[in-house]
Amino acid sequence: MLKIHPEEGRLAGVESRLSILVTRRVTFAAAHVLRRPEWDEERNHAIFGACARDHGHNYVLEVSVSGTIDPDTGMVVNLKDLDAAVRDAVVGQVDHRHLNHDVPFLAGVVPTAENLALAFWERLEGRLAEGRPGCRLRRVRLVESENNAAEVWR
Ligand code: NI
Repeated sequence: MLKIHPEEGRLAGVESRLSILVTRRVTFAAAHVLRRPEWDEERNHAIFGACARDHGHNYVLEVSVSGTIDPDTGMVVNLKDLDAAVRDAVVGQVDHRHLNHDVPFLAGVVPTAENLALAFWERLEGRLAEGRPGCRLRRVRLVESENNAAEVWR
């Protein structure tokens, strides 16, 4: 049976058996094109279809972290801080940009949802560790459209 810890305002005795995942969701809009410059038009179209032409998406990015609950705040991470880190490391770099041309950390990358999720993971992992010992990045999910998403997790 769960009990509220009288001094600390949290549920006592369950943390050791369970993991807690906290997720922040942010959105951004960006343009991209899926093509390899060394391939001809026919091959690009055969592999990437309509995505071989410039187009855009309203992306949804979900970032999840795990850690222990701070007994004073009841939080694993302050969502204001998590939000600020995601905006600083990722959203501020990609929102209303062309992902193939405008984003230095994506230079030379075919900006599929898979590659974007991995690149965002790389940027977020170091950023989230700063000043938050015990708070670890566990999942990055990038929703590109209502029909597809890519997810990186550990
Ligand atoms: Ni696309």
